Amino acid sequence: MIEREQIVKGLVVVSFLILLLMYRGSENAKVVIVFAFYFLAALMYRIDTRYPVLAAIGSLVLAAILIAEHNETLANKVVIYAYYFLVVGVLLILVEYVREGKEEEFVPQRELKNKVLAIISGKGGMGKTTLTSSLAVALAKLKKMVIVMNLDLTMPNLDIAMGVKVRGLIEREQMVKGLVVVSFLILLLMYRGSENARVVIVFAFYFLAALIYRIDTRYPVLAAIGSLVLAAILLAQHNEALANKVAIYAYYFLVVGVLLILIEYVREGKEEEFVPQRELKNKVLAITSGKGGVGKTTLASNLAVALAKLEKKVIVMDLDLAMPNLDIAMGVEVKGMGEALKDGKDVVTVHNHGCDILATLPIKDGYKNSGMLERIKNIIDEVRQKYEVVVLDFPPGIEAFDVIDKNTYVLIVANPEKLSIADAYNVNKALEDRAKVLGVVINKSNGADVEAIEEMLSLPVLAVLPEENRVREALEAEIPLVARDEECEFIDEMAELVKFLVKYWEKDESRGDGEP
Ligand SMILES: Nc1ncnc2c1ncn2[C@@H]1O[C@H](COP(=O)(O)OP(=O)(O)O)[C@@H](O)[C@H]1O
Ligand SMILES: [Mg+2]
Repeated sequence: MIEREQIVKGLVVVSFLILLLMYRGSENAKVVIVFAFYFLAALMYRIDTRYPVLAAIGSLVLAAILIAEHNETLANKVVIYAYYFLVVGVLLILVEYVREGKEEEFVPQRELKNKVLAIISGKGGMGKTTLTSSLAVALAKLKKMVIVMNLDLTMPNLDIAMGVKVRGLIEREQMVKGLVVVSFLILLLMYRGSENARVVIVFAFYFLAALIYRIDTRYPVLAAIGSLVLAAILLAQHNEALANKVAIYAYYFLVVGVLLILIEYVREGKEEEFVPQRELKNKVLAITSGKGGVGKTTLASNLAVALAKLEKKVIVMDLDLAMPNLDIAMGVEVKGMGEALKDGKDVVTVHNHGCDILATLPIKDGYKNSGMLERIKNIIDEVRQKYEVVVLDFPPGIEAFDVIDKNTYVLIVANPEKLSIADAYNVNKALEDRAKVLGVVINKSNGADVEAIEEMLSLPVLAVLPEENRVREALEAEIPLVARDEECEFIDEMAELVKFLVKYWEKDESRGDGEP
């Protein structure tokens, strides 16, 4: 879903294009408009100083294509823009360089002796590894003799941060994708056949790109609109011949886009609303992760509410004893758990948004208290008898993994970053043979490479939850987002995830290998 801010930004861009289109003044003034716009865009989108250089390179490539098409006049204009971009880019880089150089250099005065520096935090995911690796390198740059050690034995990833062991697949894949795009451009540039064949090449490429980048059905329509705007600009510049060509592309894009949208529409219409078929029996679902802050509590609370919306009898339990916050996520007061843990009293739950909640206050030393794991296990055993689904909001890491048994279903939450994926890998390895790990939920995603992640983890990605401000706002308001009657990608993805889980459990039970 596009945010309001993006619409405003889009309007600014479109207004600029219209301005440029209507403008009838000198070529120089036009260049000034373009650069005024460029700086505006740099401001709105926080554009990096390297981007003008990239824009210059892009313009040069475009100019080369135009020359190959014997459109020298337009090519010349584009080259002028390339030149200006290059000047701006180099200037910006120089300014940054001079500014950096001005700060006087710090020179250490004496040799230090055996300093030991520990980097710690309450939760994971706060950036300990990032800080540690950066700090070590910065110290080395001051000619200090430094060694950096990984003390996170269960979820180590300093190796990745320091680049001492290659595990990643992502870069290579992206390079291959880039090569495909460049090869296509060269092909188009060298091609001397008929115009129709060229259209075929462009669309073959389009579908290839759609495949490798998982392009959305809305994109061809956007491409058509873009092409039409370009055609209009060309017409305004009295370049009818090229405008006609561009308009043909617009037409083809439009046809493809509308067809795809129709297909999707028909397919969606076909999907009937999901209604659970049978009552589930005592499912226990653990929400885990290597680090904190990835979104376990967010997922656990929203999942519980989404299950309740399907009329499931569900309880969600805070197992993060040291830093609990399920009470905030569910908007309830804490009751009961402390007493139940201490003197084996009956568990007292609270109720909100259609589900029961067992929240807790922070318990000093958490799972390190002797017998704590056993007591927690007993509570889960007691509770699971009364519910269709028990959702467990775990602490980060492995400290509570002994609560998990062979009948526990597990979701691993990760963010689409290398370190977080490495953590997910380690969690899965720790649980592989002792629980039913269903898969991974990628949270705070702005476009994750799902296939690469699945390949790295050998686990299915069951949902990709976008990073959305409303998730944060909802948490601030102490309401799980799915409890709100809104439409957004996060809520849609949660609905799909819950549907998957319920279907999966129903199948499990009809096969008879569900709970004892
Ligand atoms: N999809 C999301 N979009 C934006 N913010 C998110 C999202 N998921 C979680 N957050 C924010 O990230 C922070 C950590 O989430 P939380 O669920 O408490 O993580 P964990 O339980 O794994 O420690 C919270 O402030 C939450 O608002
Ligand atoms: Mg949490």
